[in-house]
Amino acid sequence: MITYPDTFPVPLIHLEETDSTINYLQALCKRQEVEEFTTVVADYQSAGRGQKGNSWEAEADKNLLFSFVLYPTFLEANRQFLLSQVISLAIKEELESYADGFSIKWPNDIYWREKKICGILIENDLTGRFISQSIAGVGININQERFLSPAPNPVSLRMITRREHGIQAIAESVMKRIVDYYAALRSGKESFIAERYREALFRNKGLHPYRDGNGRFLARLARIEPGGRLILEDEKRKERGYMFKEVEYILED
Ligand code: BTN
Repeated sequence: MITYPDTFPVPLIHLEETDSTINYLQALCKRQEVEEFTTVVADYQSAGRGQKGNSWEAEADKNLLFSFVLYPTFLEANRQFLLSQVISLAIKEELESYADGFSIKWPNDIYWREKKICGILIENDLTGRFISQSIAGVGININQERFLSPAPNPVSLRMITRREHGIQAIAESVMKRIVDYYAALRSGKESFIAERYREALFRNKGLHPYRDGNGRFLARLARIEPGGRLILEDEKRKERGYMFKEVEYILED
């Protein structure tokens, strides 16, 4: 049921359990008209989805698991990376109110130092050249202390700050920040967003190890193209461009 709690900035559906909040919201949007920003929060997902067809590990009642719907009909499909930028900036800035050391690992993971605290999955529907609907699913590790899946380097807010956090309060603040950043996007502040994103990136300075189809190499971040392509500059000062999944960051333990 869609509710409008006083403290929550957008329409809310709170579920004790679902397979995946993305699947739930997608099915709802097919069945009926759903107001923009409507957010589905679940205490537990039985089949949480991650990137690359992986599952998303999250112990019941310990994490923030949510999805929301946008209708960015003002955005051409070739600018869809801006949605990743605004959503990841909003989440990173919220986490920074609890500790230092957060960054955005291209394209849209949130890291604390060399560890992943948040994953984001965005599924866009296109109508012609424009985006008609976008459903974003976000998983933020909040109070979980042990991770069992082989996902590399997980961390939670509790492990970072050594105290428990209220999940609902973080959900409220994150959605407020997303609403504000989305308004900035709608009003054409694209270069401001791209600049902030660049500054917020993981490994935005110095040489670091990466791996692509040809093996391991050291490189520095050169830039992110407007379409979201990552451009690295290797030790021989040669530029190498990658779309998502074409390059792997080699992480420190
Ligand atoms: C990733 O692999 O980095 C993306 C993970 C996204 C997980 C969230 S949890 C809430 C929403 N529902 C899902 O099934 N997945 C996303």
